[in-house]
Amino acid sequence: MLSKPMQEALNNQVKLEASSSQAYLAMASWSEIQPGLDGVAEFFFLQSEEERVHMLKLMRFINERGGFAIVPSLDQPIVTYKGIKSMFEEFLAHELKVSDSINDLVDLALKERDYATHNFLQWYVSEQIEEEKSARILNDKLELIGEDKSGLYLFDRDITATRQSGKKR
Ligand code: FEO
Repeated sequence: MLSKPMQEALNNQVKLEASSSQAYLAMASWSEIQPGLDGVAEFFFLQSEEERVHMLKLMRFINERGGFAIVPSLDQPIVTYKGIKSMFEEFLAHELKVSDSINDLVDLALKERDYATHNFLQWYVSEQIEEEKSARILNDKLELIGEDKSGLYLFDRDITATRQSGKKR
């Protein structure tokens, strides 16, 4: 059975994963209307779906452990970007924020000696290692490419493959 503070903290994480899904959906939509960013758009559509899965997994766990998973209200995410570079910086910043939040949950689980939740959270800990890694790699690539148009062309062409090879699933 989840404690009240743990239930509340997990529900906050539900909201953060839902916000991530919305933020990446907005990135996908913005990318889709830019010339030549079809691959990037596809990447963020997939990323958005994945965040929804993260949210659902949490909701099911909360309910399974005797809590009540709350469907959150959400603020509108950033919907336009001045360029692909600032969008990917935002992507990395967002993932770092999620990692911090997961770490706080792990801390709380240990403090409460809630080993079931601690065990459940390990999946998210591993997931964040992968998410941060792929966001960092993409930012590094963009840094290298700079304003080079053919580099950007290849970045867009290869991005979904990067995503698949970076993930173990
Ligand atoms: Fe569910 Fe990308 O954090």
